Amino acid sequence: MPTAVDRVGRSLPPRIRDLASSQIGLVADLGRDDPDVVKLWIGEGDLPTPPFIVDAATAAMKAGHTRYTYSVGLPALRRSLSVYHHRHWGVNLPPERFAVTSGGMNAIMQACQAILEPGDEVVIPSPAWGNVREAVRVVGGVPVSVPYRWRPDGGFELPLADIVAAITDRTRIVMINSPANPTGWIMPLADMRGLREVTEARGIWILADEVYNHFVYDGAVAHSFLEICSDQDRLLVCNTMSKNWAMTGWRAGWVAFPQGLSSVFARLGEYNTTSIPTFIQHAASAALDGGDPFIEAMVERCKVSRAILIDGMSRLANVSVSAPQGSFYLLVRIETGEGSLDLAKRLLSGVKLGVAPGTAFGPEGEGFIRICFAISAELAHDAVRRFTAFFGKA
Ligand SMILES: Cc1ncc(COP(=O)(O)O)c(C=O)c1O
Repeated sequence: MPTAVDRVGRSLPPRIRDLASSQIGLVADLGRDDPDVVKLWIGEGDLPTPPFIVDAATAAMKAGHTRYTYSVGLPALRRSLSVYHHRHWGVNLPPERFAVTSGGMNAIMQACQAILEPGDEVVIPSPAWGNVREAVRVVGGVPVSVPYRWRPDGGFELPLADIVAAITDRTRIVMINSPANPTGWIMPLADMRGLREVTEARGIWILADEVYNHFVYDGAVAHSFLEICSDQDRLLVCNTMSKNWAMTGWRAGWVAFPQGLSSVFARLGEYNTTSIPTFIQHAASAALDGGDPFIEAMVERCKVSRAILIDGMSRLANVSVSAPQGSFYLLVRIETGEGSLDLAKRLLSGVKLGVAPGTAFGPEGEGFIRICFAISAELAHDAVRRFTAFFGKA
């Protein structure tokens, strides 16, 4: 006998009914409230938002910035975005080329809403942050995965030819997340240029997800597509306050778009959220204007914990780990033959370690677990002790 939920569920469009649930949430729900669990599953650091940003939000609230505002974002915040981009990437984007969104997630959703028609294909290097695939599906698009290659000496690579080979007559977007979650891959500048040539020639959009662009290691550089594209190229760049300034719960992000699309994103912003909270926009401005030292401290902290975890994990039995160039994740290869989800559950019940199963990032993630290293050195050492107790030494 079908339940009421089944009956109602069946009347939903399949693309909505069949949206995937997050496998990270599935594991996290088993241990979310246990204070003894070392939680490395979610993509956020363990630091609080810096006080100067909290103070800016409080001051804005007290000053009465609690009402509706511009759907595309406060003019002052769009100016801060323009200056921030010039300071970090040397690019000259006027404030009219930015829209403020409810985090990077909503930036990606609005980008998909702006570009995709039902049935359009979106090429996505995979394993990938699962939300992007589902965002494509919400608007009726079809995600097409291009698998990274796991090099025999460890580490991920993705030849440009593999991406180009996935393009068909139905491709409307190539999505590039560099530095990447979960692989840590950074697209080389020459490949960015090559991709731009291919997409421009074929009338395809690049959707660049650059939310980890400050998190680079061992001298690696993460270039922005904004550096190599003109203001008339089919390019949307999504970004967020979440990762740089420990602001995951503030839900503030942005999208940079070609000259002339401001009114399109003003309308999409209006019908998505009618703007993000006004006082949060003031705080976001403060973060962009004065938050560089915090980013530097975050990256330094990541470097330390990344080194501790790589060193500790490379001594374990049945585990291969490579040094990611960017982002703040290790995607660790497990050679026990066990499925990633089962292993993540066993790590939680056995040694109270919370990791994300690789399959949360698509079937290409089977055989891997992802751990976040935006944590303190003490927590990283604790995690290594628990991994060692679980896997044993090689
Ligand atoms: C690759 C990638 N893009 C975008 C986001 C969006 O972040 P938020 O919605 O918190 O701004 C995330 C968050 O984990 C991510 O990993």
